[in-house]
Amino acid sequence: MINNTLTYQTPHNQENYIIQTNRLYENDLLQLFNKEILAIRIPDYYPLALCELSKQRLLQNGIQHYINAPSIGRNGMAFYETENDPEKIEQYYYRSRVNIEQIRQIFHPNFSPLDKLRLELQEAWASGANIENIHDRKMFVGLCRLLEPNVDFLPHQDIFHLDSKDNIRARSLKSQVAANIYLDIGNEGGEIDLWSYGFNDNIYPEMLDENSYGMSRSKLSAPTLSIKPKVGELVLFNGRNLHAVRPSKTVRISIACFIGYRGKEYPLTYWS
Ligand SMILES: [Fe+2]
Repeated sequence: MINNTLTYQTPHNQENYIIQTNRLYENDLLQLFNKEILAIRIPDYYPLALCELSKQRLLQNGIQHYINAPSIGRNGMAFYETENDPEKIEQYYYRSRVNIEQIRQIFHPNFSPLDKLRLELQEAWASGANIENIHDRKMFVGLCRLLEPNVDFLPHQDIFHLDSKDNIRARSLKSQVAANIYLDIGNEGGEIDLWSYGFNDNIYPEMLDENSYGMSRSKLSAPTLSIKPKVGELVLFNGRNLHAVRPSKTVRISIACFIGYRGKEYPLTYWS
């Protein structure tokens, strides 16, 4: 399915689409960054008892909704919401450190799953890992996301340099991986659908439904594969490829960030 409207291709090799492992390894990450596999799964990444505790606290703490996707709740502001608007970008940076600390507080006195991920990326990757700073300011990292029951999180792609136009550092990414740790997910629905391709920067905005962050599934072929995460699991996949989340019968909660790759000799970066 290769033509010039598609980019970010992953070679078709069904057997090797997913790596399931018990910890982060540099070689596995490289395969994901180089688009040789579609996903990495690490079950039991965060203890079940702590998932339950943090879920209760998150629900009590109040969940706000995305400005540009109101059916999706979250704690913390995603850079994606700034939509190239200088005022919203300022608001994002103004709150970034407080938001990191607030989310850490949800897990206190235990370690947070995102802090665990940040440390382990630093340890696994020879050149280390840091908070992204495309504007010479520390970005926010650790968005908690809540999907209400029966919400179809439509197919979309995460393309940093479209969220921050004309930014050279955003454009210098060679790969943008989405990392999610699941704090709550019911038995029915909530699968992540992954496609082995994405549209290029020019076609992608035209594919989106009107006034929507995503596109109807009817515009696309069937997903290449679906993953049903378990509570406590970490799933990493290529955010530049098309991906979606199927409606769930119950609330679905995850904590998430992006991981940026610029080459083996550079530190990884992370942000939300
Ligand atoms: Fe996404």
